[in-house]
This record gives sequence, C-alpha cells and structure tokens, in this order.
Amino acid sequence: MKNNIQTFQPYNFPTKLKTLSISNLTPVEIQTYLNAAIAPRPICFASTVDKDGSVNLSPFSYFNIFSVNPPMCIFSPSRRVSNGTTKHTLQNILEVPEVVINIVNYDMVQQTSLASVEYPKGVNEFVKAGFTELMSELVRPPRVAESPVQLECLVKEVIALGEQNGAGNLILCEVKLIHIQDDVLDENGKIDQEKMDHVARLGADWYCRVTDDNLFRVEKPVRTVGIGVDSLPAAIRNSAVLTGNNLGQLGNVEALPTDEEVETFSRTDEMKELLDATIGDSHTRTVHLHLKAKHLLDNGQVKDAWKVLLM
Ligand SMILES: Cc1cc2nc3c(=O)[nH]c(=O)nc-3n(C[C@H](O)[C@H](O)[C@H](O)COP(=O)(O)O)c2cc1C
Repeated sequence: MKNNIQTFQPYNFPTKLKTLSISNLTPVEIQTYLNAAIAPRPICFASTVDKDGSVNLSPFSYFNIFSVNPPMCIFSPSRRVSNGTTKHTLQNILEVPEVVINIVNYDMVQQTSLASVEYPKGVNEFVKAGFTELMSELVRPPRVAESPVQLECLVKEVIALGEQNGAGNLILCEVKLIHIQDDVLDENGKIDQEKMDHVARLGADWYCRVTDDNLFRVEKPVRTVGIGVDSLPAAIRNSAVLTGNNLGQLGNVEALPTDEEVETFSRTDEMKELLDATIGDSHTRTVHLHLKAKHLLDNGQVKDAWKVLLM
C-alpha cells in the first residue's frame, strides 16, 4: 500500500480560513467566538452557601470532568466581562468550600436559565427559579431535587486566572457522593444515556438537546490498532465519494479481508450485477463501488465495505 499522506486532502477540505489574533479582539469578541466554537458544553448547576448559610444556585457551562481517581470536576465562574466583578458562587465557595453540581436536563432548562439572572446577594435562586431544595448528605449546600444526577463535592482548590474583566476562576471540585434518579438508570444500575435528556450550551443563546435521534455510537479505536488513514490506498484516500468519516472507519480496522472473502462477496447477485454492468469502464465501476462501500459504511458494515473496495 502507498503511504502518501502529504497529498491526502480530506473530502470537502475547507480552502478559506479566517484567522484572528487574540490581541486584536475585545473580551466580548473572544467570548463570542470561543463560546460558539467550543460547544456544546455541559452545564454545571452549582448550589453553594455563604458563611451565614444563605443559598445560591447558578449555572456554569465552563465545566467538565478532569479526573476519575480522584474524581474531579472543574467549573469556572468568571469575572464579569462588563465590569470585572466576581460572582456570588465564587464568593460563597471562598467562604464555604463545598458545592453540589446538579446536572441539567431538558425539563429544567428554562428555569435553569432564569437562575442565571443577576439577583442581589442573599437571594435564593431555588426560590426565584422554582426549584426544590433537597438536603445534602455530606455538604452544606442543598441539591436540586429535579436534577437527574446530583454530585456532592468538596472544593479542593480555587485558581484565579487573573483580575481583569472576563478572567476565569477554576473551581476544582472533588466528587464525594453521586445521587442518580432511578428513572435514568438501566437494568444494570448504570446511567442510560438515552434517558438522561441532556442539554448543553453553545454560543450566544443557543442550546442543544441530546435526543434519541441524534445519539449515535462510534466504535472505540482502543480495542484494535487501526491501520490508519495513511495506510489506505491512494484511490480510496482520494475518493470523491467517501467522506472523512468513511476514511476514519476504514482506517480503524486491524486487517483487511482476505482475497477469498473479497472473491466470495464479489459473487453475490448484487455485486455481480454491478461488476457486469461496468465491464470495460473502470471509472464508472470505481464510482459505483465507492458508492456501495459508502452505503455499507454509513450502516456500520465496515468489513463488507472493505470487500467492495478491494474488488
Ligand atoms: C447555561 C448557562 C451557562 C453559564 N455559564 C457560565 C460560566 O461558565 N461562567 C460564568 O461566569 N457565567 C456563566 N453563566 C452566567 C452565570 O450563570 C450568571 O452570571 C449567574 O448570575 C452567576 O450567579 P451568581 O453571581 O449568583 O454566582 C451561565 C449562564 C447560563 C444560563
């Protein structure tokens, strides 16, 4: 096989790029570009208390999991881009380093957005947004009863990224207790991804919802050592029919089908018909074989797609 990565151009490779230097952008412009680009982001609905026990509840989408052992999440209440002031959530955590991270599903999204309103300090957003407080077992902030997964966390560290407008404050949270509503569990007691009904934040006022019809699986490459896109024959790599996703699937096999397997597949009625109809016209044959392979790949039949491409 030819290893010809230099000449490889993925299907639909973009030819024009807009390049922006951060030093020429305002904080609002940086926020606008990066929020739209780094998306969708999961939402941490954080409940905290101040030293007097006043409760606060606010959503943060600068959030993710960063370690499983210890189990650590980070979210970031930034200084306001408009005036550089800090958020109540940060102030509370500096007083009481405990937080409950409540996961947000579609049924909660409008109330969650309402909880992001800049209410004065001391106003409880559970009340303003209409959520139910559920007493936590380990930490002082209450949980959101409506949330499908509630994580009781101890704050291990707060890292301020600056004092200028828009500077983030990383809250490093160690998860100590995981509470999961029964109705999002499968029969093995694990979270059923289809039942979570997650929502996530994108740029501006865009959100997305994870529904059954937009969930899909990608076979994990770690099970095998895939041959890689660079090892695909040039005619496949440069195909006008196969997409980047298709090439990724083809490169994720450990070994190609044997000559016998290809031969057997070529004798099926459908393939015989295709081959007979294109005798003497190698260009049309290649296009039809690639279209057939693409159809198989789009249905997850990678091995058969390889047989077609090797005919
Ligand atoms: C879905 C969503 C995600 C948000 N993500 C963030 C974020 O990651 N960081 C941030 O500083 N503000 C974020 N905000 C805005 C805060 O929620 C808002 O400033 C909130 O009022 C802060 O409340 P507090 O001062 O009571 O802590 C987000 C708002 C929404 C609706």
